[in-house]
Amino acid sequence: MLHRHIGPYNTTAVGLGEMPLTIENNLGEDKGVETIHAALDAGCRHLDTAWAYYCSGGEEQTGEKLVRRALDGWKGPREEVLVATKVGHYRNFTDGRPTWDVDGRPESLIRHAKESALALGVDAIDLLYFHRPDPKVPYAESVEAIRELVDEGVAKTAGVSNASVEQIDIAHDILGDRLVAVQNQFSPIWKQTRDTLQHAGRMGLAFVCWSPLGGYRKPKKESLFDPFREVAARHGVSYQQVVLAWELAQGDHVFVIPGAHRPATILDSLKAGDLRLSPEELSALG
Ligand SMILES: NC(=O)c1ccc[n+]([C@@H]2O[C@H](COP(=O)([O-])OP(=O)(O)OC[C@H]3O[C@@H](n4cnc5c(N)ncnc54)[C@H](OP(=O)(O)O)[C@@H]3O)[C@@H](O)[C@H]2O)c1
Repeated sequence: MLHRHIGPYNTTAVGLGEMPLTIENNLGEDKGVETIHAALDAGCRHLDTAWAYYCSGGEEQTGEKLVRRALDGWKGPREEVLVATKVGHYRNFTDGRPTWDVDGRPESLIRHAKESALALGVDAIDLLYFHRPDPKVPYAESVEAIRELVDEGVAKTAGVSNASVEQIDIAHDILGDRLVAVQNQFSPIWKQTRDTLQHAGRMGLAFVCWSPLGGYRKPKKESLFDPFREVAARHGVSYQQVVLAWELAQGDHVFVIPGAHRPATILDSLKAGDLRLSPEELSALG
């Protein structure tokens, strides 16, 4: 399975995005543990979660708690698994319409990161991302809190998510070597972040594609996947594998964290690390 470096970690280029296992329409905790175990048993060594991956009617942080339960009950080498989490978002379920709200105040980020470490059952979080800029708080103030968290040992390394080129530069000025990764949306239906993908590469940072398959809801621009379906038919694989392989081919610093509700989908996605697309196929896919 393809491995790549995120800061000090050598981990699988294909990780598991935990979000669908604990937000709306999840299939329950047991299916979540089964899905994480299937991924780990197949060799996946990168799990991505967040303080905010929970849904209405339950507790907060159920995503992080699910990851802990899965790892506690797994018989494989726990120390090989990179667990990344994020702070800066929370959910709001008033009037029955779930929203993703931001809170980038330093005191909130610090409180949530300490809660994340507790929920994950670790002394220090492997990789802590600032989840999303909060327009009410100067970006540098939020990032200073992330620096404090690394310096206090709450997290070992730091990342930024949903960040522009300018914000990556601000984060790098403040975090220095503590900053190891940028996690942004990137997929065939979301290429407008390519500038940040390339910028991360130039700076020696990992670039982690979120919603690499277009998201857990059916994408509106479904036809943009048609060229990937054609290549997939020639290789005799799912088009999702071709999408992930195309993303991984954007640079040696690129990672993907496809989500899954069940073992079958993540087991298929994990094969993308071994799928090689020809230069002609890559240039045709754009
Ligand atoms: N940083 C951020 O702000 C942010 C925002 C959103 C997401 N994320 C992260 O990115 C991760 C992935 O994003 P996502 O879950 O929204 O969307 P996604 O990975 O683009 O798509 C997930 C969906 O694709 C399906 N799928 C996955 N692999 C497949 C395969 N090989 N064949 C067929 N179907 C497949 C899954 O189906 P099934 O349901 O059938 O399993 C799931 O519903 C999240 O879990 C989260 O960790 C981060």
